[in-house]
Amino acid sequence: MNTLSPFYPPEAKEEVRARIDIVKVIGRYVKLRPAGQNFKGPCPFHKEKNPSFTVSPSKAVFHCFGCGKGGDIFTFLMEIEGLTFTEALQRLAEETGVTLRPVKEQGQSAVRDRISKTEALAIHELATRFYYDRMKKSPEAVAYFKSRKLRPELVKEFRLGYAPAGWSPFIEYAQSKRIPVDKLSACGLIVTSSQGGKPYDRFRNRIMFPIFDLSGKTIAFGGRGINEDAVPKYLNSPETVLYRKNRVLYGLHHARPAIKEKEYAIFVEGYMDFLSLYQTGIQNVVATSGTALTVEQGQLIQRFTSRIVLVFDGDSAGIAAAERAVFVLAPQNLDVRVLILPSGEDPDSYIAAHGAESLLKKITAADDSVRFILKRAMSMYDVSTAKGKSAIVERILPLIQATSDEIMRAALIKEVAEQLDIREQLIYGVLAKKRLKESSSTQPERDPTAEQFLETEEGSFLHLIVKEPSLIALAQKHISTETFTDISTKNLYSLIIDTYTREKSLQKIIDRTDNNDIKRVLSLMLIKDVITDNRHEEVSHKVKRFLLKFNKQQMHEITKKLRMARKPEEKKELLYKQHVLSTQRKELNSGW
Ligand code: CTP
Ligand code: MN
Repeated sequence: MNTLSPFYPPEAKEEVRARIDIVKVIGRYVKLRPAGQNFKGPCPFHKEKNPSFTVSPSKAVFHCFGCGKGGDIFTFLMEIEGLTFTEALQRLAEETGVTLRPVKEQGQSAVRDRISKTEALAIHELATRFYYDRMKKSPEAVAYFKSRKLRPELVKEFRLGYAPAGWSPFIEYAQSKRIPVDKLSACGLIVTSSQGGKPYDRFRNRIMFPIFDLSGKTIAFGGRGINEDAVPKYLNSPETVLYRKNRVLYGLHHARPAIKEKEYAIFVEGYMDFLSLYQTGIQNVVATSGTALTVEQGQLIQRFTSRIVLVFDGDSAGIAAAERAVFVLAPQNLDVRVLILPSGEDPDSYIAAHGAESLLKKITAADDSVRFILKRAMSMYDVSTAKGKSAIVERILPLIQATSDEIMRAALIKEVAEQLDIREQLIYGVLAKKRLKESSSTQPERDPTAEQFLETEEGSFLHLIVKEPSLIALAQKHISTETFTDISTKNLYSLIIDTYTREKSLQKIIDRTDNNDIKRVLSLMLIKDVITDNRHEEVSHKVKRFLLKFNKQQMHEITKKLRMARKPEEKKELLYKQHVLSTQRKELNSGW
């Protein structure tokens, strides 16, 4: 019996979406009233007095400003009825009279289930050995590790490897060991196209980082392009029977003893950051691998320690990521500290420039999470006015509410009161009022991440171009996706550019992603107005700032390389690059 659900072609979704009346369907669950171009009503996902649930018929999206839920009509039905996507599609297809024709079963998920964990582990072990062996034989890969200052013992300990260039060296090797292609595909190590083309290796010409489970077995890989211009810079295994990205912290297997001993864990973002710290003897470290920190990762670390220090990059993406992480971790009663590195530095480059000693000193002096959030809020509003203080309290409130431990909560309130020079009672008062308002119902699960993202420099920029797609061309002309180092920004920006290039409109953009977080951000962007008197000027201004920031980062990298360069030709080339960058910076600074 086939228990897998049918897979329908993407056009089916488009067709249903084009025919459905979103106001009518949502109107069955929510009493909607017209409000300007939109419709508003009480949110069905959380209890509220004032309607903050908004539906936009022209954009075909909904968004609740109270609890943060948002998306298209499919998301709505899935959430409110607890349906799977396929069920929601079937139901709406029936209503709109669209005929659904399943594609012949060959989807990834079908394949994924055709392998046992034992088989998958064996294949990952084989791949780890293969990449390690190829690394040994590749002078280029060995030189790469050297240039990144990774010692051979460390490379061996972490079984770092090299996936050779070429389309199928791994497939050929695996086949010589009689492993069928569909098993390799189920492990995400090769790519098979649905059009029936030839399968090829997923990882080509990349430095390979095996990702281990807690017993030290390889369950996935991260692959970094060996050439600086590789796109994407990092490529990771997809989710498989072995690998759930949300639940993994890179390096935890190795770091366990040190975390136990030091009684705290350092969180960094990148593989290289992890290895740099580990190698210098700071071994109580794990890497989030560039994804936003998850509740599951918090629960995982809880098993080993309740004290963590986030050491994140000194750019706005790093700061935003740290802030998100603090909110995500707040309900878990962990002792969280935050260290934001100087602008343009990541832990790896910081160690290279200033040494591990200096980093460790900073880590021990890191702000606790409350002070970090407070400082951020205090830099955003005017602390000397009552209005500013009130805005700051409002911003900190979710953190206070999420802190379930009463002693910790009291300490937090005390700290906020002291910093803002107000009475503690005042904050307790605001808190009580808020609780009263919400106690008339079940507590909504508020997810402020989409709104927070829109407050970041990158987020507000994307918001602008989503609201004013005629400015996309301007952005695209100057900003490549690589300019953004934060992955969610990069993904969202690519999605915007790609959608607009293909369809000359963003009407269907929400349809082009399956990621619920991205849907929430997009629905918010589409519905929320941008407050600025001159969108064009604002976009140019931001473009310029991003370019300057990118220029600075590149300059930093080149200067670093220059310090280590030996060969005269190499030096010459780097000096030339430096010259180009500095000319570019001057041009940017003198207006353009
Ligand atoms: N990452 C990813 N996919 C990308 C970019 C980044 O999965 N396209 C993850 C990787 O785990 C990476 C981490 O995010 O290690 C941090 O990314 P980034 O700061 O761009 O790279 P670095 O770790 O600084 O890597 P390097 O020093 O090699 O440039
Ligand atoms: Mn780095």
